[in-house]
Amino acid sequence: MKILVVGGGGREHAIIMKLAESPKVDKIYCTPGNGGISRYAECFSVSATDIDGVVALAKQLSVDMVVVAPDDPLVLGMVDALNDEGFMTFGPNKAAAIIEGSKAFSKELMKKYNIPTAGYETFSDSNAAIAYLKEKNSYPAVIKADGLALGKGVIIAQNEDEAVEAVKSMIDGKQFGESSTTVVIEEFLTGPEISVLSFTDGKVVVPMVSSMDHKRALDGDKGLNTGGMGTIAPNPFYTEEIAKECMEKIFIPTMNAMNAEGRTFKGCLYFGLMATESGVKVIEYNCRFGDPETQVVLPLLETDLYDIFEAVYKGTLSDIEVKWKNECCACVVLASGGYPVKYEKGKEIFGLDDKGQADGVFVYHAGTKYENGTFYTSGGRVLGVTANAPTLTEALEKSYSAIDSGITFEKAHCRRDIGKTAVSQA
Ligand code: AMP
Ligand code: GLY
Repeated sequence: MKILVVGGGGREHAIIMKLAESPKVDKIYCTPGNGGISRYAECFSVSATDIDGVVALAKQLSVDMVVVAPDDPLVLGMVDALNDEGFMTFGPNKAAAIIEGSKAFSKELMKKYNIPTAGYETFSDSNAAIAYLKEKNSYPAVIKADGLALGKGVIIAQNEDEAVEAVKSMIDGKQFGESSTTVVIEEFLTGPEISVLSFTDGKVVVPMVSSMDHKRALDGDKGLNTGGMGTIAPNPFYTEEIAKECMEKIFIPTMNAMNAEGRTFKGCLYFGLMATESGVKVIEYNCRFGDPETQVVLPLLETDLYDIFEAVYKGTLSDIEVKWKNECCACVVLASGGYPVKYEKGKEIFGLDDKGQADGVFVYHAGTKYENGTFYTSGGRVLGVTANAPTLTEALEKSYSAIDSGITFEKAHCRRDIGKTAVSQA
């Protein structure tokens, strides 16, 4: 089988490394990929959002399957275009990807089908939104851009001033373009966060090993929200009891709700959950593998990933037994100083071998370039230094000691407390 993976981050690197283990996979291509991915898969320069370009590339390479990993091409309908040309794909079609593409849609879906989530209202008029905030007068308040915003479209406002400013800059200032002309204002929930990625073909939903992201830029969950500064798996807060509750009240009802809406979801459905005192609630859905969750989940997968992708496409997922290693995995993200706001690129990266790797860990590349035998930074999140081990403590030690032994670049920044809450809970 020849497979084209669309995307170019650490998540795609992790998908490619797992697909490469399959005896059925002969050749893996990636577009646009990155420096680290280019050491394992042939990369092309077609952008991940260029639907016509990706269809043309898939034809030119006569691939057997296209895996569309990022949210934007899924929401734009890349899978539909590839299916129209007869390609087998992994990823939801446009009708289903709206579960991530519009928070107003996903909140409405949960309300209609009684899936537990935070109470909310939707607004496209800033005066109405502000009047609502004043009337509620309850802080923190959660303000979310309706559409995609690179994981940065959520503001937790601590007081009225912050809330009013967020509403004005999102709706009137179009802070996230058209994505923020509608906002959702949500009740603030508290409790540990759990990410559960799942495989679903619309008939069954198979949860993967749970994980925990660390979304804030700085230690102690301080600083701005980012795409994710590190992950661990499994998540110790995801007990068997909670897993059962999620299956009954969230996972199966969501799959059924999408079917009932004529939007059958096939692909990786990501549940962002919070275990509150009044039960588990959905914080968000994503229509794709999480990043950097994938970097800690897929290394623990024992079953052939290609077989799973094919079964999801064909609607035969119930025939496959999806198995996991009984280990823990940790991923620490090395980011460019200043991320997620302003940062420099093009810095030489030290401490990697010619494959972009280092001893004792696997380094998933998120934002790198490879030129004349050297890796350079090319994004905000640069590397995900990842290790598995029998315990979470050991996995974290391996990741941090690889970083401390010299994986670095000018102004490199990583959180020093990835997995800390998980270790104290376990
Ligand atoms: P989202 O992009 O919807 O996952 O939101 C990003 C982050 O904001 C989440 O991981 C939570 O930490 C936080 N968040 C989102 N919604 C809420 C909420 N209703 N209550 C408390 N925190 C929230
Ligand atoms: N790490 C969170 C996400 O992929 O949305």
